[in-house]
Amino acid sequence: MCGIVGYLGKKDALPLVVDGLKYLEYRGYDSAGVAVHTGREIEVVRAVGKINDLEQKLKNPPRGKCAIGHTRWATHGRPSLENCHPLATTDGRIVLVHNGIIENFNVLKNQLLAEGVAFQTETDTEVLVALIGKYYTGNLAEAVLQALREVEGTFAIAVLAQDKPDEIVAAKRAAPLCLGLGKDENFIGSDAISFIKHTNKVIYLKDGEIAVLTAKSVEIRNLRGKKVNPKTQTLSLDPTSIEKGEYPHYMLKEIYEQPHAVQDTLDGRISPQNDEVIFKELEKYREYLSGVNKVFIVACGTSWHAGLVAEYLLERYARLSVEVDYAAEFRYRYPVLDNKTLVLTISQSGETADTIAAIGEAQSLGAKVLSIVNVPSSTIARNSNMVIYTYAGREIGVASTKAFTTQLVVLSLLTVYLGLLRRNLPADQAAVMLQDLKRVPNEISKIFTEVDNIKRIARAFHKHSNALYLGRGVGFPIALEGALKLKEISYIHAEGYSAAEMKHGPIALIDENMPTVVLAFKGRRYEKILGNIMEVKARKGKLIAVASASNDDITRVADEVIRIPDATESISAILAVVPLQILAYYIAVEKGCSVDQPRNLAKSVTVE
Ligand code: F6R
Repeated sequence: MCGIVGYLGKKDALPLVVDGLKYLEYRGYDSAGVAVHTGREIEVVRAVGKINDLEQKLKNPPRGKCAIGHTRWATHGRPSLENCHPLATTDGRIVLVHNGIIENFNVLKNQLLAEGVAFQTETDTEVLVALIGKYYTGNLAEAVLQALREVEGTFAIAVLAQDKPDEIVAAKRAAPLCLGLGKDENFIGSDAISFIKHTNKVIYLKDGEIAVLTAKSVEIRNLRGKKVNPKTQTLSLDPTSIEKGEYPHYMLKEIYEQPHAVQDTLDGRISPQNDEVIFKELEKYREYLSGVNKVFIVACGTSWHAGLVAEYLLERYARLSVEVDYAAEFRYRYPVLDNKTLVLTISQSGETADTIAAIGEAQSLGAKVLSIVNVPSSTIARNSNMVIYTYAGREIGVASTKAFTTQLVVLSLLTVYLGLLRRNLPADQAAVMLQDLKRVPNEISKIFTEVDNIKRIARAFHKHSNALYLGRGVGFPIALEGALKLKEISYIHAEGYSAAEMKHGPIALIDENMPTVVLAFKGRRYEKILGNIMEVKARKGKLIAVASASNDDITRVADEVIRIPDATESISAILAVVPLQILAYYIAVEKGCSVDQPRNLAKSVTVE
């Protein structure tokens, strides 16, 4: 994963690069480092830990107008000081930051060792910097091109040479990289968020492109050395949307943004008469979509949970046969697909490596890919045949919240769209579903009145080491999501299960030390859930129920009740995840955990 940044211009480069890195910390935060060209030499400062740890080491900062920086999510090599980027050749002439994996690094390393090159780190990246050093005779871009021709794997890099104080060379293959164009200054970033405060003019480098930047110019070539004419985009990303504002954590801010995010995602997509879902983005593919006889939903993590909810919805209301798979499994499992299959991928970042690969696999087998994506211009958005955006806005907290609820909203709209298109959903039922969806933003807002209750529950339960999350029907994936939220930010071991499945094993775990969170909202399976609750109670298990407002009987059986507004089963699934996010958040806060940057995680998983 990792994030890289670069700056070249008239200003003091270091503060700009460090600030840019802070916005990329979501990509990894095991270690960080910067290299500043002072005009005479390149000074490198690195630290294990987060950008704050790096800043501690920058009390006497190196000064210069050209710098690169890196925030690391360790793949090859521990997060130790020697493995931190930037990495340099042993003579210090070339310095580089890298995001990606050099797959043939062992072969290349052995060749270089045989040639007498010494290595100091366990990283794959050091091989690349050594190769560039080997080929460098004064033309940095040429040396980078030569080195990259030998490299297999993925990379986004920024490279400095000691005798070139006014130049950065950047290149990319299957890892994101963009350039920010300013007046007499230019930026590099894994994500435009790292420089959006300074410029919104952006070039997204394509795979196999190499860029030579000076303060006044940007020249782009392909790996064969041929000049290309890049497309400059003007982004409308609002710099204030990436600030925490009054909130102590991005995650809390993003939880509270959900009514707004859902509203933005719904806007313009339901006709005033509630008789139509407006997906202009699918217009060209209506015929394909009406002829589809199978849907594969492919995603990872939280987005996969959204896919599981969609399985229930699409089967029930659009009468489509659906299979849901992890992208990492799908891409290698020889799936049976053809030109009557729709592959539906779901991704917040649009950069998840396994999902990107699954798209390629699906397309090569003749299927069309429809992706639900939150980040415009992301790789998944670009590679898919059809794209529906969620308008959650920037999600920075590592634990996904508003991206998930907006995904559920788009998937609900898509269900109605396909149900009507394929004439499997009666118009009056579709109209009711659409009216219900329009109420979701307001219904989510009502859940925030439960925050004090949830805080109290978090204080009472945060010392437990394990938890079970149970649900049925659409409540089952919500239970999985609730468990994932808890484990990723509070490090409490949590398992999600179908409540009915509990009897087949997990019930053995239940005692007074194993709290169970149960999704007990209105729906076809409510009575069954009550039965499952009794089974937990009979074994002295403590029960926290997320229940619909008018489910009075739940208070007799549950130890704690968190209320969500009364709604249909499908809408309840969207509402019920919100208190689970809040519960995980306050438990993590009680435990003093790093909520926005949980250990070992990164926001977008751009490695296999
Ligand atoms: C969990 C979380 C991850 C992501 C997963 C997929 O809170 O954020 O599980 O959902 O890495 O990421 P995207 O949706 O960006 O493809």
